[in-house]
This record gives sequence, C-alpha cells and structure tokens, in this order.
Amino acid sequence: MDNRIQRLREQFLENLQRANAAEAFEELRVQYLGKKGEITGLLKNMASIEPERRKEYGALVNQLKEEAENGIKKRMEEAHARELNARIAATERYDLTLPSMVRQGSYHPITLVQREVEQIFASMGFTIEDYDEIVDDYHCFEALNIPKHHPARDMQDTYYLSNGQLLKTHTSAAQNAIMKKYGAPLRAIFPGRCFRNESTDACHENTFFQMEGIMIDENISISNLIYFMKTMLSEVFQRDVKVRLRPGFFPFVEPGFELDISCLICGGEGCPSCKNSGWLELCPCGMIHPNVLKAGGIDTEKYTGFAFGLGLTRLAMMKYGIKDIRDLNSGNLKSLDQFVK
Ligand code: DAH
Repeated sequence: MDNRIQRLREQFLENLQRANAAEAFEELRVQYLGKKGEITGLLKNMASIEPERRKEYGALVNQLKEEAENGIKKRMEEAHARELNARIAATERYDLTLPSMVRQGSYHPITLVQREVEQIFASMGFTIEDYDEIVDDYHCFEALNIPKHHPARDMQDTYYLSNGQLLKTHTSAAQNAIMKKYGAPLRAIFPGRCFRNESTDACHENTFFQMEGIMIDENISISNLIYFMKTMLSEVFQRDVKVRLRPGFFPFVEPGFELDISCLICGGEGCPSCKNSGWLELCPCGMIHPNVLKAGGIDTEKYTGFAFGLGLTRLAMMKYGIKDIRDLNSGNLKSLDQFVK
C-alpha cells in the first residue's frame, strides 16, 4: 500500500515539475485532488485497508494531499512571478533618459498660420495687437454700429456672463479700443479667439479664431483693401489663389464685402467643408463705417479706412487640408501631430 502512495507521489511530483501555465495547474488539481482525483481516491479507499494499518495509511495520504496542495500553489505563484518579470523585461521597461521615449511637442496648426499671417502683415507695416476675450456689449456691438435689438445680433449669439459681459463673438470687438489707443493713421492686426453659441458640424464650432485688421489713413480706398488681401493670401498659400468679392452686409462697414477663396480641399468642386459650393467665405471686409470711425475718435473728414475679419480657423483648415473643424479643438494628437515643426 505504502508503495502505491509512494508511486503516486513520484508521479505527481514529476507532473508538477512539468506544468507551467495556469491551465496545467488546474488540470493537475483536478487529476489528483478533485472529487474523482487520484489522491482523493486513496482516501476513499480507506475502508478496504486493514483496521490496524488505517491510521498510518490515513496519515500518509493526508500528508500527500497537503504536499500536493502546497506544491501546486507554490509552483503557480512561481509561474506567475516569472510571467510578470518577463512582461516587465520585454515591454514595460521605462528608461526616462532615452530620447526616443520623449514625445516632441508641436505648435497647433492655428498658431502656425497665425504666426505666418502676422509676419506677412508686419512686413507691410501693421502692428500686432492683443485684446480681451471677455468684452462688454459696447465694444462687441454698439461701437460697431450694431445697436441693441439690431437683427445683425442674431447672427452672433454667444455666452453671456452674469455681470452682463460676454465672450467676444468676433475680433472686430477690439476695433474701438485700438482706434482710441493709437488714433490715425493706423495699421494694425489683432488675432483672437472668438465664441458663438453654435450647433457644431464639420464647418462650425463654438470656439474659433479670427484675425482682424484695420488700416486707416488719408485716401484709403477699396483698391488698397483688395491689394492687401490678395498679397496676404498668395503669400500664405504660396500660389495664386482664386478669390471672389461679393457684396456683404456688416453694419460696421460700408460698402461691405465677402471675400471668398476657391475651396482648396475639393478644388472648387464642392465638398462638406465648403457646403458643396466650391467656395469658402474666408475674409469678410469693407470700408469702415463713419459711425465706427467716429466712435473710435477718428476724424472722418480727413481719414478713411478698411477693415477685414479673416477666419484664421478656416485658413488653417484650407492650408493643412483639415476636413473637420472639430479636430482643431479636440486635442486629438493623431490629427494635430502632423504639423510638428
Ligand atoms: N466681425 C465679422 C464677423 O465675425 C467679420 C467682419 C466683417 C469683420 C467685415 C470685418 C469686416 O472687419 O470689415 O462676422
């Protein structure tokens, strides 16, 4: 009998030695310690043992049972630790001194385009101005010839603060302050983040960037406006860009225009980015309305000027072929990383 126990023990230890994976240990447990297991079988066999040997037999089998349980447990833990160590060694090792592990940051596409346009205008004698994102009703609307209840306000619903201030809906909101600050003659551009209460889609976002520009001097006419716009666009795109000028209404300019460029994503054939028209409204502009000049303290007998509101976000989409405006604010590095500089 003892021999039987001994043989079973040897056979078990051999199998245990060979087992490696979690399933193998489970199989062993069932094979030896399960309900129909071999060691369990020895215990069940107790009745057939002569009474005077039962005690010794029982002790031996229980000893083997315990050895088997502990053996499986120990080997399982060892295998688990081995697996963990192998994983750490192979894939989860960090060495912060390795340059390849350090992600390189990049400029946002809008920053890139903004800087480029700034440089072009700076080379034409424009100063670059910064202005608030939180403004009051006067600067955003009234000083721009948009009185309370004017229907033009419907186009620019935004986020109002409880103190009556609002997130600026357009960079035009800085015109009045900049005119007052510098007086005429004046050439300035002012980029900025704008906000509108919009339903979003591929070409609308509640947060976007514009770049406003104004030029005020003696004898400024629409020809000056067209010249500056064309120069800027051909510099940005490094090629002749097709543009068209349509009449457009904005209370702060007279006459006002919509300057469109042919959609560079579809080549003018029509796609979701250009609402299938083949054209993108890029830069509304016009001759500054005398009421706006007056509100800014400019002598309208002596000076005239033009203004434009360039869609910086649109421009970045055109330049980099970004199809969905929502990518720009998403923080999605997969799209934004392409512009690493
Ligand atoms: N501020 C206008 C808007 O966001 C755009 C605009 C139109 C700006 C005509 C201008 C301009 O300077 O002359 O809708």
